Amino acid sequence: MDRRDFVNVSAAGFAAVGLPLMAAAEQGVFSRGPAGAAQGRRLPALRITDVQTILTQPANIKLIVVKVLTSEPGLYGLGCATFTQRARVVETAIDRYLKPFLIGKDPLQIEDIFQSSFVSSYWRNGPVLGNALSGVDMALWDIVGKRANLPVYQLFGGKCRDAVDTYAHTSGGTFQQVEAAARRARERGYRHIRIQVAVPGLTGTYGVGGQAQAERDIPVNRRGGLWEPGPYVRIVPKLFEHMRRQMGDDVEFLHDVHERVPPILAMQLCRDLEQYRPFFLEDPFSPEDVGYFEKLRALTSCPLAMGELFNNPNEYIHLISNRLIDFIRIHISQIGGLTQARKVAALCEWFNVRTAWHGPGDVSPVGHAANVHLDIATPNFGIQEGREFTQAERDVFPGCPELRNGYFWVNDRPGLGIDLNEMAARRFPITDDPPFDMRWGNYRRRDGSVIRP
Ligand code: CO
Repeated sequence: MDRRDFVNVSAAGFAAVGLPLMAAAEQGVFSRGPAGAAQGRRLPALRITDVQTILTQPANIKLIVVKVLTSEPGLYGLGCATFTQRARVVETAIDRYLKPFLIGKDPLQIEDIFQSSFVSSYWRNGPVLGNALSGVDMALWDIVGKRANLPVYQLFGGKCRDAVDTYAHTSGGTFQQVEAAARRARERGYRHIRIQVAVPGLTGTYGVGGQAQAERDIPVNRRGGLWEPGPYVRIVPKLFEHMRRQMGDDVEFLHDVHERVPPILAMQLCRDLEQYRPFFLEDPFSPEDVGYFEKLRALTSCPLAMGELFNNPNEYIHLISNRLIDFIRIHISQIGGLTQARKVAALCEWFNVRTAWHGPGDVSPVGHAANVHLDIATPNFGIQEGREFTQAERDVFPGCPELRNGYFWVNDRPGLGIDLNEMAARRFPITDDPPFDMRWGNYRRRDGSVIRP
């Protein structure tokens, strides 16, 4: 978008020709009360004129992006509302419910829009309503940034660091394959590497793609794969031992348990891994089992990361304020967007819990941009789950955060600095067959019983 499309008043005109806002302010261009207003120097009032939901899947993952349009020609914002497993439900929540609630409101009243939208359904929280709110909320931060001619991180207080350190995903069928993948990640500049390995004889190990099919004792449903917790918790410490022996101490290793094992096995795993100095162990428990964290904390100094499934502040406030975790892993769109995530980051700061926002492929590039804008302005930032965007993603989302040398860099364009090429997005329409990745809910044990994904 051409900035000049919407910088149609004198104050913003300075920004359009590249003069810093401070300089413009010093020259008395901005309104300083009634006199300025009387001279027509205030930016005109804004209204939300439309809220659109765009579904696309440039990387074969169903993404939901929200576009909030305003009464100022050409001024719009983008937000991530991706709940890939229930894309159509989020679409409905936005199109049928949030949109009529928002039309005509002032898009700069971000806090009020969050608070009022949050209670507009009376029943609240959850991934559908959280993602719907997030799509709008991020778009409003994008709009206020564009209007102020400032990147969103500047609105959050400015840069605390030059770039955002990330971790790479690696996996393999054998320890040697994981090691080869980790060495490649090191060569690309990553200092932090998540390591996941297949468990022999099992097909559904989290984070390991392309596993061979294995026979189940009772073949119930083959989509999700076969998985057992016991062999898994025995192999992971051996993987860490291998990786430390082969790659030394000058690299950080991470691992994601993905809430799959009984709490007592997760506790054993943390103790077994402690000697290999993991950077963090992620989601040792499910959200339903967070009551175990106090016991785990007393047992081990293994760094703990938790929380991509969290919806409701009551699920995580206790973990943070009692210093039971080291990294908060919330999926920002799940909890309602940047307005909510900023508060979580600030809460964490007082308890020295670091942020490690969830950043896999089912966060849209718009959501990744939001993550990175918050990361760069958060003093207690810990690490960011990184993603190397495909060419198709870059075509659909011009301005994706850049990954170089293992660091995410944001551009300095106003707002979130990312756009949506709707023509390109239409080349990747989402199909409803199947409606989502059917492996979720289909991971089963040998006896056919379902396990958490
Ligand atoms: Co995870």
